[in-house]
Amino acid sequence: MSGKTVTASPDRNPKHFTYDYTFWSVGEGQGTQAEIFEDIGTPMVSNAVDGFNCTLFAYGQTGSGKSYTMMGGVPTDEGDAGVIPRMISGLFEEKEHPCKEPGSSGLVRISYLEIYKEQVTDLFASLSANKENKGENLKIMVAWTANELGLEGSLASRSMPETREHPKLGVYVKGLYHMPCATKDEVMRNLEYGLKMRTIAATNMNQSSSRSHAVFTIIVNRLEGERPKGKNGKDERKSLSAKINLIDLAGSERTSKAQTENDRLKEGCAINQSLSQLGLVIKMLTEQSNGGLKAPMFRASKLTFLLKDSLAGNSKTCMMATVSPASDPHLHGMKLLSTVVQLSLLGDTAAAEDNYDETVSTLRFASSVKSIKTVAVQNKNKKDQLIDNLQQEMRLLKAQMAAGGLNVAEASEQLKERERLIKDWIFGAPELSLQAAREMSRAREKALEESGLSHGHITEAFGISNGQPYMVNMAFDPMLAGCLIYLIQESKPTTMGANKDNTIVLKGLGMPDFLCRIDVLEAGKTHSA
Ligand SMILES: Nc1ncnc2c1ncn2[C@@H]1O[C@H](COP(=O)(O)OP(=O)(O)OP(=O)(O)O)[C@@H](O)[C@H]1O
Ligand SMILES: [Mg+2]
Repeated sequence: MSGKTVTASPDRNPKHFTYDYTFWSVGEGQGTQAEIFEDIGTPMVSNAVDGFNCTLFAYGQTGSGKSYTMMGGVPTDEGDAGVIPRMISGLFEEKEHPCKEPGSSGLVRISYLEIYKEQVTDLFASLSANKENKGENLKIMVAWTANELGLEGSLASRSMPETREHPKLGVYVKGLYHMPCATKDEVMRNLEYGLKMRTIAATNMNQSSSRSHAVFTIIVNRLEGERPKGKNGKDERKSLSAKINLIDLAGSERTSKAQTENDRLKEGCAINQSLSQLGLVIKMLTEQSNGGLKAPMFRASKLTFLLKDSLAGNSKTCMMATVSPASDPHLHGMKLLSTVVQLSLLGDTAAAEDNYDETVSTLRFASSVKSIKTVAVQNKNKKDQLIDNLQQEMRLLKAQMAAGGLNVAEASEQLKERERLIKDWIFGAPELSLQAAREMSRAREKALEESGLSHGHITEAFGISNGQPYMVNMAFDPMLAGCLIYLIQESKPTTMGANKDNTIVLKGLGMPDFLCRIDVLEAGKTHSA
């Protein structure tokens, strides 16, 4: 690496790639998480506050550092914090204070979804409606919270949301759950909850986070100008809105490496479908920027459909590519990042030729992304225009229906959808108030504890102290290891297994109905049988 240029294999057939930013991950000249945030995250925060949509997506081979750069080390310490937590801090520290209580100058809402085998799962909602039934314990938790808040039904349907497109709104996920948050801590807690949901799903399916794509979205709504004075004062403030999409993609090698067993093959294909489609879409867009006429097939995969606006629409987009080309001595120990691309490299001498090919393919991919141009426009006063537009559509639909020109069932469904969109979060009228969201967080927290899963990180668990025994899940995937903590009750035996009558219900391949029973014999000592 020399400045912003990366040369792959100078002694063989040298290939040069230039990016906007490059960072080494280890040794001399190592780029810190703070520097990466400074270059990539800070401009995104200011852009979002100014009403521009932004996207950051992380692409690269498994283990090359995508999640580390996005989220940070596990357990996280300040210096290790990745782009996402730093961005959240940045948003809440902005002078303009975009993130206050509703009714004041701004509002922040977040959503978190996962795409696995071409299925979208809302990580803030239940997984129980999923046909594959990833976690019985979640069912209990969501039923509990939904009941408590009178939301039964609406939550269950959110767990398998549909992707839709509106000519003016662009692509959106119908029924995706959005959490209004007033503080950085609230965002972080929700994010942690989503990560736990991802861990439970991954554990139950014997998978790791590297097999799914995760999309974390922050929506910022802000009113600019003086608040109206008195009750009858005219509100002439301008509304600004922006969406920040932060995407941690599945390991890119799954697009090329052969999968053998049936399920793996299916899974590989499904992940391939999204990632290879991303490759194709980017190729088409690059060709379009050079006069090519072929239209990219965004709808061919969930990922590209969701990324449509980020890649070809209204968004300032940055791609971060991470590479781990340990087999190449010239790249060894390097971490590099670029505008549309960041590369990170971890020195692992065991890596082989495979890594070289993977690295060059990532470098090439990242380089091609750079030539794509998106057109970001400031989302100013969009709310009123869009509501007018939707209302107009509704009038038209009603007129067509009255004239018998439309199928009644279909038209009523479309009308309902327009009504919902008008009310929906996009327009600053979230279905869930901040208070309801907080109540729900508390309820979920309590339910987590009741199902044997406490809140917090492993470090927090140590803070629980007072001798309470607990178990922590361990996984090969560092993003998922240590994420779930099962508290063991001292007053009664704790049982574990697939049967729903167990204290801790675990699902997954080969899990027996009854796995084990844990008795607390005396404080500080446990015995299992
Ligand atoms: N720059 C870095 N400095 C220190 N540790 C790092 C760095 N980048 C990655 N790591 C560590 O390397 C390991 C693998 O990184 P990470 O989980 O981010 O990879 P990934 O690209 O997300 O892989 P996957 O596709 O499997 O999800 C983790 O333990 C992570 O903490
Ligand atoms: Mg990862």
